[in-house]
Amino acid sequence: MNNKTIPNTIERTLNDDDYIVSKTDTKGRITYANRIFMTLSSYTEQELLGAPHNIVRHPDMPGLMFKRLWDTLRGGREFHFYTKNLAKDGSYYWVFANVTPSFDQRGQPIGYFSVRRKPKAAGVKTFQELYRSMRQAERRTAGKQAALAASARIYDDFLAAQGANHEAFILALQA
Ligand SMILES: Cc1cc2nc3c(=O)[nH]c(=O)nc-3n(C[C@H](O)[C@H](O)[C@H](O)COP(=O)(O)O)c2cc1C
Repeated sequence: MNNKTIPNTIERTLNDDDYIVSKTDTKGRITYANRIFMTLSSYTEQELLGAPHNIVRHPDMPGLMFKRLWDTLRGGREFHFYTKNLAKDGSYYWVFANVTPSFDQRGQPIGYFSVRRKPKAAGVKTFQELYRSMRQAERRTAGKQAALAASARIYDDFLAAQGANHEAFILALQA
């Protein structure tokens, strides 16, 4: 997270045909950013290249989503999620993100690739509410592991009530 940025309530939106693309190394440091990523985040290419991808992390996002993202990527699988991102000027933008691991010819992970597009309104509404309660649970629970576990209970109970797993639920919302 860029600590110099103070979040405000100005929202930025993507057009239907906008795709934000970025690539990172295995540690999550940005190695490629397309023009739309720069425009929407208000960062220059110079500022983005080499920066950790959490440069656009918004404080409203629960840590659990990123734990699940990294656990899935390290397991060699792709992950979809809705995320509220923070631009350099403090404004925010919601996206529907897909992140996939990239492998070399021997099957070793060499980095990650992400495409983010305009989210469906229903997806944003659902995850805005979920993230609010997950973030609250994380804030009021002492200890990082316990905080993530409290957040996971909220999310996993929600999914169980829907009778779906994370990927199935998310893909149906964005369909
Ligand atoms: C290819 C790729 C794309 C990512 N895209 C985003 C993103 O759009 N927004 C975001 O907050 N984190 C994104 N992340 C996750 C960040 O690396 C980071 O885990 C997250 O911002 C949480 O920050 P923290 O790990 O410092 O808590 C991405 C990671 C990878 C590998």
